Amino acid sequence: MTTELRQRQAEFTKQLHGEEIGPKVGLSALLSKDKKSQKLAVSQYLDNWKGGVYDQDQEQERLENYNETTHSYYNIVTDFYEYGWGSSFHFSRFYKGESFQASIARHEHYLAYMAGIKKQDLVLDVGCGVGGPAREIANFTGCHIVGLNNNDYQIAKAKWGAKKAGLDKNLEFIKGDFMDLNGTFEENTFDKVYAIEATCHAPNLEKCYKEIYKVLKPGGVFAVYEWVMTDKFDENNEEHQKIRYEIELGDGIPKMFSVDVARDALKNCGFDVLVDKDLADNNDEVPWYYPLTGEWKYVQSINDLATFFRTSYLGRKFTNTMVSVMEKVGIAPEGSVKVTEALENAAVGLVAGGRSKLFTPMMLFVAKKPEEPSA
Ligand SMILES: C[S@@+](CC[C@H](N)C(=O)[O-])C[C@H]1O[C@@H](n2cnc3c(N)ncnc32)[C@H](O)[C@@H]1O
Repeated sequence: MTTELRQRQAEFTKQLHGEEIGPKVGLSALLSKDKKSQKLAVSQYLDNWKGGVYDQDQEQERLENYNETTHSYYNIVTDFYEYGWGSSFHFSRFYKGESFQASIARHEHYLAYMAGIKKQDLVLDVGCGVGGPAREIANFTGCHIVGLNNNDYQIAKAKWGAKKAGLDKNLEFIKGDFMDLNGTFEENTFDKVYAIEATCHAPNLEKCYKEIYKVLKPGGVFAVYEWVMTDKFDENNEEHQKIRYEIELGDGIPKMFSVDVARDALKNCGFDVLVDKDLADNNDEVPWYYPLTGEWKYVQSINDLATFFRTSYLGRKFTNTMVSVMEKVGIAPEGSVKVTEALENAAVGLVAGGRSKLFTPMMLFVAKKPEEPSA
């Protein structure tokens, strides 16, 4: 990541979100944006998806500009994510009767357990969001976590959240690009590395995993919940392509890869793959994508009604209308409606991908760097 890019992104973050980032969430964060910069951020993002259908040249541009593409995406959606979902930006499985927050935390505990994270470990969280998972895993295991992220706004929020939770001794948050981890950390630094629904933003999975391999100590473990298209996905099927495109556009992903690309990438890097399992491929009574559906029958706890309403079809329509009115009367910055529309696309694509099992956000790989790496 060049110094010029770092500085430009840091300055833009200050312009867009202001100095006081931590305590503002949801509506209060949205309303305090600099309007001109928000308009620019939205158009910067949507420029990557002109035309609304798959286009090979545009895909190539997104792959080349992956860092800016995702940086601009998270500049505009972070407040909506926090408002709708909370401080962990990922999906999870649900037991019958389990609340939304319990399920999110359990998904994080499970990854920590599968990675074998211990109190004395130095752990890297690749693409750490606003730090929700890092706080939970630090509490759960007592380990020390370094969260890496290329989005300055989220880093500021993660630092603020760690301090508020009294976890700032266990947690650090650092700006960096997961395509060049070795530019930020020495080789053989971490005991464990995990990534939760983040490396799907990589333009090349093998290069990204290779960086993770380098910074892991020999014998160290990498555990990831990867977003991939499953074996059922057919590149030549138009309906399948549409679903993939909606997910890419609505979630800031330059290109969604298929599961065999991810699997091969790990092996080609030299990892021993210990676990290779799609956690969404089961008969869970409550599906992982349920918060994005409008199906009240899935709500497991009365405390989840508000979350479910915000993320459901009806709740999203309500938010879109509210944001649209606020934008029209000049309270919300211009472009806010376009953001809600992109997120709507994402929700539709994710539910369709989930129902048809063409897509999974929880392809679990646990991979070990050999004690004596060959190269
Ligand atoms: C869906 S969010 C998941 C965040 C977090 N893992 C969680 O579960 O809450 C994806 C994260 O990856 C980060 N990210 C995307 N591209 C990145 C890159 N090139 N280098 C570092 N982080 C990146 C984003 O800024 C965002 O924080």
